[in-house]
Amino acid sequence: MGEEKIKVAFFDAKEYDIASFKAADPEEKYEVTFYETRLSKDTVKLAEGADVVCVFVNDDVNRKVIDKLVKMGVKLIALRCAGYNNVDVEYAFGKIHIVRVPAYSPYAVAEHAMALLLTSVRRIHKAYIRTKDFNFSLNGLTGFDLHGKTVGIVGTGKIGRIFMDICRGFGMNIIAYDKFPMKDSGIDYVELDELWKRSDIISFHCPLTDENRHMVNADTIAKMKKGVILINTSRGALIDSEALVEGIKQRKIGAACLDVYEEESDVFFHDYSNHIVNDDVLARLISMPNVILTSHQAFLTAEALANIADTTYKNIEDYHRDGFCGNEVCYKCNKVADCKQEHKAKCF
Ligand code: NAI
Repeated sequence: MGEEKIKVAFFDAKEYDIASFKAADPEEKYEVTFYETRLSKDTVKLAEGADVVCVFVNDDVNRKVIDKLVKMGVKLIALRCAGYNNVDVEYAFGKIHIVRVPAYSPYAVAEHAMALLLTSVRRIHKAYIRTKDFNFSLNGLTGFDLHGKTVGIVGTGKIGRIFMDICRGFGMNIIAYDKFPMKDSGIDYVELDELWKRSDIISFHCPLTDENRHMVNADTIAKMKKGVILINTSRGALIDSEALVEGIKQRKIGAACLDVYEEESDVFFHDYSNHIVNDDVLARLISMPNVILTSHQAFLTAEALANIADTTYKNIEDYHRDGFCGNEVCYKCNKVADCKQEHKAKCF
């Protein structure tokens, strides 16, 4: 690094982000300006003079934003998350480099998925409220054993495989689907239709792409077991929320455990407790006793926050020192599943 400090415009900054990023840079090697607002075409001008913009899952890095960043001389988009469906990666190719944090704590997300499942199955959310009110009745709290149930895991990457291990510990039967199955893994891969048909519980751990948007829809729900429990800690738009509401109303879906929601960017991470929420589908879901919703908090552990900050600074440092970074997100590599490019050189 030269004499000049690298300037980072940090968008969608929350208290816990500011604390973890300050802790990871005690010597203040970077000049970071924290903005509460998200990055969008209306706020992009705040990045004027910055070398890097640091963004999270709901910042909207569309074509207009990319054009403006390039024009202002910003060199790097540093995602402090794994998913990058909020960035127009194809458009950015050749214009501006993008880096991400591919894994910060896959344990955090997999453990949260199991926390949601246990809460739902053992009615902990109901019991908590009851005992707070000195209501010690057990009526309506009957759950079921997870032992012996079949869980279908969609996406057997880092998080999916940890969730698989956790489920194995509970004595569950495990089947899985992955677009790119791991060879010689011993995982019992099945086609999606079979997974829908056989699973008592289905958990999603794959990225959101154009092809799997709304992979849970009226047609696929029809193929599922009556009473199936859906867990989504991946990306909201994997599930067609209106079809989900309908499936629950029809009693086809037994419960939904959601850490993500397809229209979450308008509401998640904000306090709307004194407001009327305009999203009727979200309001309907929240009103249902068998829906548990957390607001994209699966990643939120102390370990994950520290890893996110360390990796983000390392990505920025690598890029500025070498002109490339092992954690680059590149449209070309993204398109070709078996791309062997390991980002040991510039993508463009
Ligand atoms: P990973 O890249 O290790 O694994 C993803 C797996 O999905 C890979 O095995 C890949 O082959 C598979 N896959 C790709 N396209 C697929 C498709 N169309 N259908 C089925 N499988 C497909 O990713 P990791 O770290 O396990 O993360 C999984 C997802 O979890 C991320 O994409 C992200 O959306 C979500 N996530 C959510 C967080 C939260 O706080 N709720 C935090 C971190 C990640």
